[in-house]
Parts: sequence; C-alpha cells; structure tokens
Amino acid sequence: MTHTKSLHIPVQRTGASRLHTVDWDNLEFGKYFTDHMLVCDYTDGEWREPKIVPFGDLQLSPVALALHYGQTIFEGMKAFRMEDGAINIFRPQKHYERLSLSAERMCMPVIPQEIFIEGLARLVDLDRAWVPGGEGSSLYIRPFMIATEARLRVKVSNNYRFVIVASPAGSYYQQSVRVKVERDFVRAARGGTGYAKCGGNYGASMYPTQRAKDEGYDQVLWTDGKEHRFIEESGAMNVLFVLDGTLVTPPLSDSILDGVTRDSLLTLAVRQGIPVAERPVDVEELRAAFESGRISEAFGSGTAAVISPIGVIGIDGEDYALPTVADRPGTFPGSAPEGRLGPWLKEALEDIRYGRAADTEGWNFIVK
Ligand code: COI
Repeated sequence: MTHTKSLHIPVQRTGASRLHTVDWDNLEFGKYFTDHMLVCDYTDGEWREPKIVPFGDLQLSPVALALHYGQTIFEGMKAFRMEDGAINIFRPQKHYERLSLSAERMCMPVIPQEIFIEGLARLVDLDRAWVPGGEGSSLYIRPFMIATEARLRVKVSNNYRFVIVASPAGSYYQQSVRVKVERDFVRAARGGTGYAKCGGNYGASMYPTQRAKDEGYDQVLWTDGKEHRFIEESGAMNVLFVLDGTLVTPPLSDSILDGVTRDSLLTLAVRQGIPVAERPVDVEELRAAFESGRISEAFGSGTAAVISPIGVIGIDGEDYALPTVADRPGTFPGSAPEGRLGPWLKEALEDIRYGRAADTEGWNFIVK
C-alpha cells in the first residue's frame, strides 16, 4: 500500500532540529522525540483541521477531564527504514481500527480515518530523518487522544485532542524476561476495558508489576479475573507458548488486547504450516508442561517488544525455567538460529517490515 496525499495539513516547521542530540547507539525506549507532532482538536461535535507543529508541551486546563477521570486512549505502532531506503509504516489500518474500538469503549469520538492515516504519513515523511536504520531499529509512533474539556463533574468530555508523536527506538527488552503468574491482582475483568488501549489499564497494572519486580521478576503474567486460572497476557505484551510443537496463545476476549504483532505472528505461523491453537491456557497445564518437558518456548509479543523471549515463569512461588537451546535444540524451519520458533517468527516478520521478503499480506504502508 502506498499513500496518496489528499487532506490539507498545515505544517509549522521547527526552527531548531534536535536530531543531533540523539545518542543513536543507546536508544533508550521513549527517551527522544522527533522534531514535530500532529495535533487535531475536537470541539462542538466536530474534528477540526489537523496541523503539524514543533514537538512541545501541551497546554491543558488543570481540570481537563482526562487528568481526573481517565478518558485517554493510545496506540503504539512502528515505521521502519527498508533496505531500499523507503519508509514503511507497519499495518496502520489495523492500529486505526483498534484505536476506534478503544474510543468507542471510552465514550470518545472516533478520529476520521483520513486524519489518522494522512496525519501519520505526513508526520513520518516530515521527520523521516529520525527513522533509524539497522536491524531491530524503528521509529515508534504514539498516537493518542485525551479529553480536554475543563470540568470537575464526572461526565463525558465534549472536547478532545488527538496527538501523534514519534520516537526513534531500539528494542524494548534487551534480554529474556522473567514473568510472574499473578494470582491475586487483576488486570481486566469480563465486561471491563481490557481490550481497549486506555491509560487506566496501564495505571492499574503499576502496583502489581512493582510488587513482581520487588520479587525479582520483570513483568506480571496476568490470569483471568474470575478464577485466576487461565493465562491472559503479560504487562505490555500478548503471550505465546510452544507446547508439543504447537504455537498456543490465549484466545481474544474483552479482557485481552488484540495485539497487532500477535495477529501478524499467528498469520505467519499458519502460512508456514506451523500448528497454531488459540485456546485457553490453564496455569496447571503450564506447570505440568514444565514438569513433563512439553513446553519448549514462551515469548511475549507487542509493537514495542516485537518478540521478547520469556526465560522464567514464576508459578505460586516456584520458578520454572524455559529450556535453553543447549537443553533442547529446536526443530522449526527457516534460517533462524537454533531452530526455535520465536526467533524464526521474528525474522519472518522483520524480513517483511524491512523489505527483504514479499509483503504477501499487504501489511506495509510505504511513505513516499
Ligand atoms: C506497544 O507495544 O506499543 C505498547 O503499547 C506497549 C507499551 C510500550 C505500553
């Protein structure tokens, strides 16, 4: 897919680029932001003209509703510098659809598709020098929407601001992660906001995650809100297991985020003829799989994380280590080292994103 320009978006360019301030060899996630941002306001029942302005602080009333009652939603997506130098935004349509679902759940207005897609393309085009080259690097893009009406009453805001900012990024997790199966706290219950990418889901996860960190883990592995029995997702990632050679992941529901990377990996696996099952994963099944050696891999998937191998899963005070390659060489296809499915899927995905393999699914959106 290649975009064509139609919508008028006025651009106010920065007078002083900060490009030279970036430490490109140490791209700490979310530390640097590109020179510009896109801003679009919603007032009197309408989205106004979007504009691109220099990156900078927002002016907000101290009683803007977002600050008090949490009407805030966001997306996380990426642009890649392809081998031929073109800039590729990965699956913007799918991110747009999820943002629209989040908006609906949080009683916020849906942003017109044209503003989202065209705004994204214009911003990335303008700041294209900020898209890093090199394996594993990308421009992380954060579209978000906040309620801006100044009121203290608990109510649906009449005014909103939609913003897109972008940040050059390396990988989110550098090493394999240790996750703790959470049996007390809940991320999302049926009927709640788990499937929406709203700020509150992340705010509510801080305390349990901090407790897990204090115990030596990196992340929580959430279980269902009713019985704490079935695996849901990890903090900033969906979660996938390789059980008896099948790629297994919990099915989507209203308490799980419909991850774009999750969807992409499942598609690639199916296309390769790898057995895939979207089905409930009982914690007891996981424990038994560790004890019988039926589990060979576990990894998280997400836009920021891409694929992040899980090294250890803590279940009720017991740590279970995933087998290392030395313990158990993999048997999966492809050129990825060690015949492991996680690295193979990551490579297959990155090959499409960087333009080394055919984009058979139409996922790439090339910014001319
Ligand atoms: C993403 O993967 O894009 C996320 O939104 C996770 C996290 C950085 C909030």
